[in-house]
Amino acid sequence: MKSEEIMDICMRRGFLFPSAEIYGGVAGLWDYGPLGTRMKNSWEHLWRKHFLSLSSNFHEISTTNILPKEVFEASGHLESFNDALAECSSCHSRFKADQLIEENLKISSEGMNLEEINKIIGDNDLKCPQCGGDLSVKFYNLMFGLKLGAGKTTKEAYLRPETAQGAFLAFKRSFKTLRNKLPLGLAMIGKAFRNEISPRQGFYRLRELHQAELQIFFDPANINEHEDFESVENKKLRMYSIEDRGKEIRKVKCGDLDLPKFYLYYMVKIQDFYLETLGLPRKMFRFRELDEKERAFYNKLHWDFELNLESLGGFKEMGGIHYRTDHDLSGHQKVSKENLMVNINGKKFIPHVLELSFGVDRNFWALLDLEYEKEERTILKLPKNVAPYYCAVFPLMKKEELAKKAKEVYNLLLNEFSVMYDDTGSIGKRYRRQDEIGTPFCITIDYDTLEDDTVTLRERDSMEQERAKIEKLGELLNKKD
Ligand code: GLY
Repeated sequence: MKSEEIMDICMRRGFLFPSAEIYGGVAGLWDYGPLGTRMKNSWEHLWRKHFLSLSSNFHEISTTNILPKEVFEASGHLESFNDALAECSSCHSRFKADQLIEENLKISSEGMNLEEINKIIGDNDLKCPQCGGDLSVKFYNLMFGLKLGAGKTTKEAYLRPETAQGAFLAFKRSFKTLRNKLPLGLAMIGKAFRNEISPRQGFYRLRELHQAELQIFFDPANINEHEDFESVENKKLRMYSIEDRGKEIRKVKCGDLDLPKFYLYYMVKIQDFYLETLGLPRKMFRFRELDEKERAFYNKLHWDFELNLESLGGFKEMGGIHYRTDHDLSGHQKVSKENLMVNINGKKFIPHVLELSFGVDRNFWALLDLEYEKEERTILKLPKNVAPYYCAVFPLMKKEELAKKAKEVYNLLLNEFSVMYDDTGSIGKRYRRQDEIGTPFCITIDYDTLEDDTVTLRERDSMEQERAKIEKLGELLNKKD
């Protein structure tokens, strides 16, 4: 679906609102409305269920958004978490240099140093789009800095640019309290903050974002094994490697791929999450290998997982599977002077980390893009377990006796399902409204209900209707799950 159409529904129905809208809104800051919050919570619930159940030693933690400066000296973010900023020497407008180069010259400047970027701008005589003035480029750190405390005792700190660092800082105590075992997974769903220069792509590049990340700490000597590898080795992965650029996605048997087994195992589990748990169309999903220049500075091996979205003009990153090695723990050991080595059966080493990193907001957007269908009616074909509401209850008309019965049914279902009550407008309009927000089932109470305790149960996708006994409704809805 087109971006403007999704945005229109989001605002009209209460999925998303611009933050501080009455003050004109701020680029890159968005609020989730009532429906959006429900849907985001459901996506996060599915994520937890899928990834935390991969091992009994995977656990969720929740750490602070604010961290002291030393953390980012150690992680490398202070030095390397930069974007190139092009500034006009006449009108002082500022632009994200890679965007400017890509839009005007149709080439990528990803991973280039300042000298290379300035050369491209000079060689191609690229000027300020506002006034035609000369541009100069410098690096600009994407973290939001702040000061903790007041007066002489202030401490420099930053809002975290990724949830990951909290897990690295919590590793030492977590490892100990969880009985010194590897692999150990620490998952976090929370906010991250990035001071993007010009977050112009609607809901894709945000300044305040949500991440769902799982850091898996493991012994690097075991990178070529996973105890459950046999169960995944025949699965076909949808791969788009550096050599495949400009060609088709290849479907390759997991066991035939030249990647570490520990890494491959989690690739399969990520693909399963999209294609099986969320049931998205296979051809819309791929893993894309990043080259040395594109990789995040902390990664040795880096494949993104992407979805093909009409609203964003093609395949877009939903997250990445990052082999971070001991980059972070070694960095923190050096700066903090804390020993972060583990001792397993007498072998002392710094664990390596495999990170599964998901951008929650872009995954949320992707579901809207992929699942909206607009033909005679607009219908959001969300998986039932992600839809903001599982069912809606309506009295056929706004009559007291029907409303009373409908409220009874609503209260009955509320214990087990997420239910919406709606008595506004004609029944046809109410069905359309629920189709547009993805509610899988509508239940209508009419005059027959008062006689025989049956209701009409209507399915979103097929529009089929059946009569069902109120006492059997719960059972019936559960069966349809
Ligand atoms: N933790 C990885 C990322 O923020 O992209």
